Amino acid sequence: MCGIVGYIGDRDLTSILLVGLERLSYRGYDSAGIAVISDGELSCWKKPGKIHALNEALKNMIIQGQVGIGHTRWATHGEPNEVNAHPQLSQSRRVAVVHNGIIENYLELKSKLKKEGHIFLSQTDTEIIVHLIERYLQDDLESAVELAAKDLVGSLAIAVVAEADPDKIVVYKKGSPLVIGVGKGENYIASDVNAIISHTKNIIYLDDGELAIIEKNNYTIKRNGKIINKEIQTVKWDAVISDKNGYEHYMLKEIYEQAIVVRKLISKYLQNNKVHFKSLKLDKEELAKIKRFIIQACGTSWHSGLLGKYLIEKYTRIPTEVDISSEFRYRDIITEGNKIVVAISQSGETADTLACIREAKSKFFKVLSFVNVKGSSIDRESDGVIYTHSGPEIGVASTKNYVAQLVSLYLFMVHLGILKWTLDEEKVDVMLNNLRRLPEQIDKILQQTDHIKKIAKKYAKSKEFIFVGRGVNYPTALEGALKLKELSYIHAAGYPAGELKHGPIALIDENLPVVCIAPQSETYDKMISNIQEIRARKGKTIVIATEGDENIKEYADDILYIPLCPEDLTPILAVIPLQLLAYYIALELNCDVDQPRNLAKSVTVE
Ligand code: M6R
Repeated sequence: MCGIVGYIGDRDLTSILLVGLERLSYRGYDSAGIAVISDGELSCWKKPGKIHALNEALKNMIIQGQVGIGHTRWATHGEPNEVNAHPQLSQSRRVAVVHNGIIENYLELKSKLKKEGHIFLSQTDTEIIVHLIERYLQDDLESAVELAAKDLVGSLAIAVVAEADPDKIVVYKKGSPLVIGVGKGENYIASDVNAIISHTKNIIYLDDGELAIIEKNNYTIKRNGKIINKEIQTVKWDAVISDKNGYEHYMLKEIYEQAIVVRKLISKYLQNNKVHFKSLKLDKEELAKIKRFIIQACGTSWHSGLLGKYLIEKYTRIPTEVDISSEFRYRDIITEGNKIVVAISQSGETADTLACIREAKSKFFKVLSFVNVKGSSIDRESDGVIYTHSGPEIGVASTKNYVAQLVSLYLFMVHLGILKWTLDEEKVDVMLNNLRRLPEQIDKILQQTDHIKKIAKKYAKSKEFIFVGRGVNYPTALEGALKLKELSYIHAAGYPAGELKHGPIALIDENLPVVCIAPQSETYDKMISNIQEIRARKGKTIVIATEGDENIKEYADDILYIPLCPEDLTPILAVIPLQLLAYYIALELNCDVDQPRNLAKSVTVE
């Protein structure tokens, strides 16, 4: 994973690199480092932990220099310590490289280089890149990078600086994203536009196999050794500065923003009771002819996809499959018929999801994506896009964007239903009116925070949790369990409630809290039977139920009420108490809720 940034120019190099790294920390925060060339001499500083640690280390230093590169790491090879942090230096310490990606043949190359006398200090795959570059370095840096790149198998976006060729940064891209920011008398490189957008909006997106030589007043892009011209694109959005707005954490702020997000989506996509997706780019006739959807996504976005399947199949009768991206890619998918691959991604940079898009396009599938981050790789590479418009989501655990994905999928389903004539006007009116009531209902749930805090305190010491739901709320059970795992490090598993008796019920005893998602629905009675089975084995039940459900008191140790809404919309409401439950349990356990250990906001390696 990781994020890389670089700058060449006369302005305050260190602050440009550090701010860029901060903005890239969604790609990993295990360590951070910078390398700078000043008066022809290379210096490097790095620290394990979040960018803050590097900031602290550098705060009283005056670092001169006009050329520098920086890196924020999500550890793939080797633990997150200082030695394994990037930049990685060559044996002479005169060449530095930052890398995003994975070198698959690094062991083979390492043993070859060791035989030649190279001594390695780190456990990273990246260190071999810089050794190789130094080995090839004779005339100019770009030739050495080009030769080294030929030896490397895997994914890489690299930026390299060298004392031997001190007035440039050389970058190379294959697999991982990389952009050049074009300025006046200065230039930038970064893993994504947002790291440099406050300095320049003139961006060149590099493609795989391209190498670029970045100088202060110039840049040259090459492919297979030949200079190529690439279009400069002007990005239309501004730097989004996100602060906590008085909330203790980004995550809490984002949970509280959910009603606003739903209102925004409704106002963006609904006009005169009709659904309009401006950026969809797939025309109505094309959509109406679709015979099959294959949704692919990871993590929380995959949970959205599961709900998407229920909705699309129920209301449009179009068969829909849902795959985890890392599985989709390696199965022998049937390509016949009129089909569309749907990608769902908050960041738009998830490597597995992106790889599936490329795979799908190579097999002549059209790709429609639900994306939050504009200008991201998935946004740019899809045939059509529906933006989830949840604004910047900084907390690593996805909250408001999950709700935004569910609402967007719901609107998409309505749009399709109208096109396919499976939904009539009257039905659509009712559905949209129910949707419009959600923001108010979300706000109502958020008023129960104190009650949720108490429940969190009561169960925070539990070693494990189970989450169960049926139908549209089976994905909610998965999402509730994922939130708890990633925030509190408590093991949690989500199951379809009907599956309990096929194995997981063996786990139940008086110490196991089971979160049961049981709003009013077609399967309510079945859920009650499942809850009774849990209680009969002394499991503790925390039940998400519909307001006014008095009956549930008999079966629940604790209850979290959500307002009455149609079953299809209950996942949007039911997930909110689960987000808060996970958040407050994590706080009880002193966990870092915004940046939990081992995670990154955007998973940019496969
Ligand atoms: O950016 P994406 O939606 O593609 O990310 C997918 C997952 O990595 C992401 O949802 C992850 O599971 C979150 N940390 C969940 O909170």
